[in-house]
Amino acid sequence: MSKELSSPAFGVLDLTPPLLDSPPDAEGLRSALRLLAGGVTIITAGEGDDRTGATVTSATGLSVDPPRMLVSLNHTSSTWPVVERYGHFCVNLVGPHHQALANQFAGRGGLKGPERYRGAEWTRLASGAPVLDDAIAAVDCVVEEVLPRHGHVLVIGKVAAIRSRGGQSLGYCAGRYVPIPESSVFNG
Ligand SMILES: Cc1cc2nc3c(=O)[nH]c(=O)nc-3n(C[C@H](O)[C@H](O)[C@H](O)COP(=O)(O)O)c2cc1C
Repeated sequence: MSKELSSPAFGVLDLTPPLLDSPPDAEGLRSALRLLAGGVTIITAGEGDDRTGATVTSATGLSVDPPRMLVSLNHTSSTWPVVERYGHFCVNLVGPHHQALANQFAGRGGLKGPERYRGAEWTRLASGAPVLDDAIAAVDCVVEEVLPRHGHVLVIGKVAAIRSRGGQSLGYCAGRYVPIPESSVFNG
């Protein structure tokens, strides 16, 4: 639908966004996917000095019955070998107050491995993977299956424990973090 705005200086302005057909290549797909709002999670794995993790938008529920999670990790990510070695990972759902932590786990500022855990409290549930104490929810998993595809590893996790606290969640869209209103589940 076309949108118009009257302006004394310019007459009638057409504010309809232009339609853009892109080639079906990496650049075209990248610019289309910028428009997809993703939920921000922090994937954690390992223990002690052997801990690391990554901020991802690719984590999702694969199935609730049976309870299974799915995450796509870049094959070159420092997190994948640790997930593979320990056979576990935790999907920590984060809120707007975790933006700095999300940047740490995205490797911004050059922090590596256990340094990414700075500034937050951590615990463990069933699988042994680090769990963010004040995550809005944490889904703790043991690795069930791994599918290497196109430079990524699709990791399927069997859910071993779930902890939920509720609160606003953090999204990522068009290259920025965006707060997502609190889930109505926790508003009664
Ligand atoms: C919002 C956001 C979403 C991301 N999603 C993914 C993802 O789904 N899979 C992935 O492998 N990396 C993803 N990344 C990149 C990783 O966070 C980053 O590459 C990693 O933590 C740093 O790589 P390193 O551990 O090898 O240093 C994302 C980064 C950001 C900021």
